[in-house]
Amino acid sequence: MRKPIIAGNWKMNKNVTESLELVKDLRFKLADVSDVEVVVCPPFTALYSVYQFLKGSNIKVGAQNCYFEKKGAFTGEVSPSMLKEAGCTYVILGHSERRQIFKESDELINRKIRAVLSEEMLPILCCGETLEEREKNVTNEVIKRQLTGGLKGFTEDEMLKMVIAYEPVWAIGTGKTASKEQAQEVHKFIRDLISKLYSQKTADAVRIQYGGSVKPDNVSILMNEPDIDGALVGGAALEADSFVKLVKFEKK
Ligand code: PGA
Repeated sequence: MRKPIIAGNWKMNKNVTESLELVKDLRFKLADVSDVEVVVCPPFTALYSVYQFLKGSNIKVGAQNCYFEKKGAFTGEVSPSMLKEAGCTYVILGHSERRQIFKESDELINRKIRAVLSEEMLPILCCGETLEEREKNVTNEVIKRQLTGGLKGFTEDEMLKMVIAYEPVWAIGTGKTASKEQAQEVHKFIRDLISKLYSQKTADAVRIQYGGSVKPDNVSILMNEPDIDGALVGGAALEADSFVKLVKFEKK
């Protein structure tokens, strides 16, 4: 059985004070949750204080990005060991905003995954097609290219430490969620791909999150699909009440 994982990707939102206000609410309102893994991913500047506040709770902390080098002359970058020390369990990598705005390649993302694993943190590897790619019917090719590139050279044990997030670019921040059929179809494709690259056993164990306009009113519909094991949430993760509703989604 795969344990559902709901993660809030706060993006470039919330300073330290605002971050602490939000997690104060979440810690209290989610204290009774044990059947879902809960992760919050604040901006770098708030990671340490959020981690200090959440220590001993059932909410884990993740970062939204990192660089692959350990340290040195890389102005503006943050290393995996710094994130580890600041309390991170997860690191989101290859988010479509990183790919599109910051021109991150599959090769760069692959190196970042390696660096994150070497610090014993868990990568959340994102993939997803643009609207143009979906309309051209090349969604599967795009996902395959992103995942084979991102996962190149990792062992089965390493694969088991990862979470995959399928986030169609056209659904992110647009209010246009993929239908449960559209999402399930790609999730199944991803699981089959992992089974080909590794084994059925590993494919059955890896959790695949859906992301893109997940809201309290559509989360259960998506989560009840057989290959959807969680959600990576942007907008609806910025308010305690909506994030709590997402975590406490209705199970069939
Ligand atoms: P959204 O963002 O929920 O605001 O669409 C999701 C994401 O980018 O991870």
